[in-house]
Amino acid sequence: MHIYINEANTHDGEEVTIKGWLYNKRSSGKIRFVLVRDGTGIIQTVIVQGEVPDKVFAIADAITQESSLILTGTVRKDQRAPGGYEIVCTDLKIVQRAEEYPISPKEHSIEFLLPIRHLWLRSKKQTAIMRIRHELIKACRDFLDDQGFVNMDTPILTPASVEGTTTLFPVDYYGETVYLTQSGQLYNEATAAALGKVYCFGPTFRAEKSKTRRHLTEFWMLEPEVAYLELDGVMDLAEDMMVYVIKMILEKRSDDLAALERDCSKLENIKKPFPRITYKEAVSIIQKKEKDFSFGDDFGAPHETIISEHFDRPVFVHRYPAAVKAFYMKRDPDDDSLSLSVDMIGPEGIGELIGGGQREDDLDTLLKRIQEHKLPEAAYGWYLDLRKYGSCPHGGFGLGIERTIAWICGIKHIRETIPFPRMLERVYP
Ligand code: 4AD
Ligand code: MG
Repeated sequence: MHIYINEANTHDGEEVTIKGWLYNKRSSGKIRFVLVRDGTGIIQTVIVQGEVPDKVFAIADAITQESSLILTGTVRKDQRAPGGYEIVCTDLKIVQRAEEYPISPKEHSIEFLLPIRHLWLRSKKQTAIMRIRHELIKACRDFLDDQGFVNMDTPILTPASVEGTTTLFPVDYYGETVYLTQSGQLYNEATAAALGKVYCFGPTFRAEKSKTRRHLTEFWMLEPEVAYLELDGVMDLAEDMMVYVIKMILEKRSDDLAALERDCSKLENIKKPFPRITYKEAVSIIQKKEKDFSFGDDFGAPHETIISEHFDRPVFVHRYPAAVKAFYMKRDPDDDSLSLSVDMIGPEGIGELIGGGQREDDLDTLLKRIQEHKLPEAAYGWYLDLRKYGSCPHGGFGLGIERTIAWICGIKHIRETIPFPRMLERVYP
């Protein structure tokens, strides 16, 4: 019977078949230890000379790393085996004998690995990250679905910018210039007015001009948007969602976190409430370390790191100067120079995980902002309509999936958090 490796523990003593690839092998006298992977895990197979036909033993000697194979044998509980179970082989067939595999178990440089990402993805660490990615996305969606949110898919090709005009990717659309979306937010505001609580989840694009460890040009964002939700409610929602997803990943992906040697105590700390500080308070924290940082400056990576070092869990920074935020941010009624914006800064120097806030809901003010930002008014006609027909306070946020994975997995660079990263100077493979 064909089983997957992660089901081996329920087949103790039974004869099973595994379909997979050779991960590694070693020999000791008349025994060959063959490590087989099938995507769900890795299992050790024992092949003993004299106990299998000579032909099978010869295959075990000849098989190369990453050859595809079909193996039959009996599952046996063994404390010493990695994973606690091994298979005593009775038959082994090679499906395709792999050429000399470029990735050996030794360490390789990132310059070597990135162009062979299609192969690098098979490694133990990378598969652990990908399973955590899957779990994160599932947990975010489960959280929102359970609260009655409706998933609304927003367009990828858009006539207008959301997050400023400097990071747009233009696309020729039958002779007209359109752009790859930077965020589904503006369309989310329309669907929230139709359905109340919505979210979109999809790829978003930014023509980032600098190489950093936290920027991709194509990344995935989960964006909830809620009618009648104000700034404090946006923070409550983001906090509840983050606590839930961390709990689910700790529960369901502890093996993968262990494979990544992640210090889980850091994640177990992620409990409510998250501190909520104003931009002004964040500035005074930064100024204790960086004297030349002034009120009004936007935060760079080093500043976010300074803030995160102050706390053992994510922290909300709200009410940034309106001048450093996007055109759609509602102003603080108590201080018109500030915006009702909020960022969630992650722990351990990971930087901004979430950006969001309350949206401008007054027609004339929004029109003025569009003009101040020198945005093409015509492209925003439909967006302004939302303020003409039943406008209401509303807000939401965007969670960057890749940065959140990098934090959860404890890896420094987000290029390893997506199957095929797109960055400045990299679109292959
Ligand atoms: O702060 P940002 O730009 O917010 C928005 O796009 C809002 N329109 C979202 C909303 O309110 N619905 O981006 C949100 C998050 C950031 O906090 C960060 O985690 C991630 O998206 N992000 C990136 N991740 C990887 N590479 C990039 N170039 C990113 N830019 C933003
Ligand atoms: Mg932001």
